[in-house]
Amino acid sequence: MIHGVIFDLDGVLVSTDELHFKAWKMLAEELGIDRFTKEDNKKQKGVSRMESLEVVLSKGNKKYTQEEKEEFAERKNNYYKELLGELDEQAILPGAVECLKMLKSKGILIGVGSVSRNAPLILEKTGILPYIDKVSCGLDITRSKPDPEVFEVAANKLGLNFEDCLVVEDSLVGIVAGKEIHMKTLGVGPEHAQLRADYAAPGLAADIDWKGILGA
Ligand code: BG6
Ligand code: MG
Repeated sequence: MIHGVIFDLDGVLVSTDELHFKAWKMLAEELGIDRFTKEDNKKQKGVSRMESLEVVLSKGNKKYTQEEKEEFAERKNNYYKELLGELDEQAILPGAVECLKMLKSKGILIGVGSVSRNAPLILEKTGILPYIDKVSCGLDITRSKPDPEVFEVAANKLGLNFEDCLVVEDSLVGIVAGKEIHMKTLGVGPEHAQLRADYAAPGLAADIDWKGILGA
């Protein structure tokens, strides 16, 4: 029986993926890396800022110190935050609010489990925050997905056993993380069919068998 649903944020509730890509692309160009593409960007899904930076740097051939890398990550985050300035409820993905309302009406607790350190800002700017009971984000953890820490923190904050939670994710690392601690998993997004989740749907607006999932 599912008592709580823990949603990833980027690519599940909101469409910030394009903004992450734009900001990384700006940094890549400044570093003289022109081979960073949307295909590479897929490998950044669900992983931390520093790990995402390594994906960009792997497309170039220079070595950098830890200090330089930290400056690059900060620079990218500043570009990203500038792009987030325009963010409002239009960035909410189709079906997300309806889904949150439906779950709430059934007494299901709602958590967010995102490795993004910008999650609180994004939840606020899009107006999603009032639907969320507890937020677990990059500011709460030291290990990124596929480590399950972010979902463990979310379940603990919600006061739920891991096996009573469903994770909704658009990344493979996120599905692996949820399964690791025996949470049920629902894969969404463009790659939903390849995520090997317990359940799959193109997005939250799809015809999802919530009754079956929650009662299972
Ligand atoms: C995840 C994104 O949600 O957050 C990753 O899928 C991103 O691509 C990660 O690297 C960290 O985000 P932020 O906002 O802390 O740089
Ligand atoms: Mg995601």
